[in-house]
Amino acid sequence: AKEPVRVLVTGAAGQIGYALVPMIARGVMLGHDQPVILHMLDIPPAAEALNGVKMELVDAAFPLLKGVVATTDVVEACTGVNVAVMVGGFPRKEGMERKDVMSKNVSIYKSQASALEKHAAANCKVVVVANPANTNALILKEFAPSIPEKNITCLTRLDHNRALGQISERLNVQVSDVKNVIIWGNHSSTQYPDVNHATIKTPAGEKPARELVADDAWFNGEFITTVQQRGAAIIKARKLSSALSAASSACDHIRDWVLGTPEGTWVSMGVYSDGSYNVPAGLIYSFPVTCQNGEWKIVQGLSIDEFSRKKLDATAEELSEEKALAYSCLS
Ligand code: NAI
Repeated sequence: AKEPVRVLVTGAAGQIGYALVPMIARGVMLGHDQPVILHMLDIPPAAEALNGVKMELVDAAFPLLKGVVATTDVVEACTGVNVAVMVGGFPRKEGMERKDVMSKNVSIYKSQASALEKHAAANCKVVVVANPANTNALILKEFAPSIPEKNITCLTRLDHNRALGQISERLNVQVSDVKNVIIWGNHSSTQYPDVNHATIKTPAGEKPARELVADDAWFNGEFITTVQQRGAAIIKARKLSSALSAASSACDHIRDWVLGTPEGTWVSMGVYSDGSYNVPAGLIYSFPVTCQNGEWKIVQGLSIDEFSRKKLDATAEELSEEKALAYSCLS
C-alpha cells in the first residue's frame, strides 16, 4: 500500500476550504489510490468552525483519509507536509486601501513561508490560491529561500478552465475536447486568456479553435473580458466568490503537476519567471506549462502576435507594480 501524502490546506474553515477538503479526501487531487492525511490551518476566530469541518470529514468516512490535523498553530500545520494549498489570506474589504490589504497578506505569507521552510517535507509543492495570488506566492518564495523556486506556484488554473468552458459553451462541444488555451500573467482582470494555440477535437481531427469559432471579434473582445471578469460575475450571482470551481481547479493544478499532463496538452500555472517570452524574470507569472515526473516546464517557442504581446506586457507591468507595493510593505 502507498504511504499517505500529507496535504496542507490553509484557510480550511473558509468556503473554498469547505469545497476542497472533501475533494482531496476522495482522491481527486492525488489519485484514487493515494491515501492522504489532511492538515487544516485557520486562525483562532475560525477554530470552532474548523473543528466542525474536521467532524464532517470523520463523518464522511472517506476510505483514503488516514488522518486529520485541524489546528491554528502554523508549525503544527506545516510539519511534514508534502503538498501545501494556501487558501488562507486577508480579504479586501469595502473601503480598504490596496496597500493595507497587501500589507496584511505580505505579513501572513512571510510568516507562513518560514514555517513551511522549516517544517514541511523536503520537496514540498506549494500552490497559492489566496489573492493577490501571484504576489503572495512571490513573498512566500522570497521568505522560504531553501525551498526550490520551482516548488512555489500560484493558481491560474481556474482562469484556464474558465476559458475552456467558454469555448465549449460557444461551440457546443465537450469541454474535454478543447485544449491548450493559455492564461498569461496575473490572476486578476489584467490576465490575458489566449486562444491562438487552442485546439478542438473533432471527428475530422484537431482543429484550431479560432478556425472553428470563426469570430475573431468574439475571441479578441467578449471572450477575453468574460474570462477576466468571471470572478466578479460569480460574486454578483452567488453573493459569494467562486468556491467549488476554485477548489476543483486547485485539485487539477496539483494533480497535473504531480501526475503529469497528458501528451500534447499544456495547462496554465503561475510560476517563477525565468524570462521566457520576454516576461521579466523574478515575477510569479502564469505561463503555459507541461508537467512530467513532478516537474513543470514552460512551453517554449509559441508565436506571440502583436495583439498578444501588448497584453502579455500589460499584465507583467501590473505584477511589477504589485511586487513593488509588496516590497514597500516590508520596510
Ligand atoms: P473565505 O474568507 O471563505 O476563507 C478564507 C479563510 O482563510 C477564512 O476561514 C479565514 O479565517 C482564513 N484565514 C485568514 N487568515 C489566515 C491565516 N493567516 N492563516 C490561515 N488561515 C487564515 O475565502 P474563500 O472564498 O475561501 O477564498 C479564499 C481566498 O482565495 C481569497 O483570497 C480569494 O480571493 C481567493 N480566490 C482565489 C482564486 C484563484 O483562482 N486563485 C479563486 C477564488 C478565490
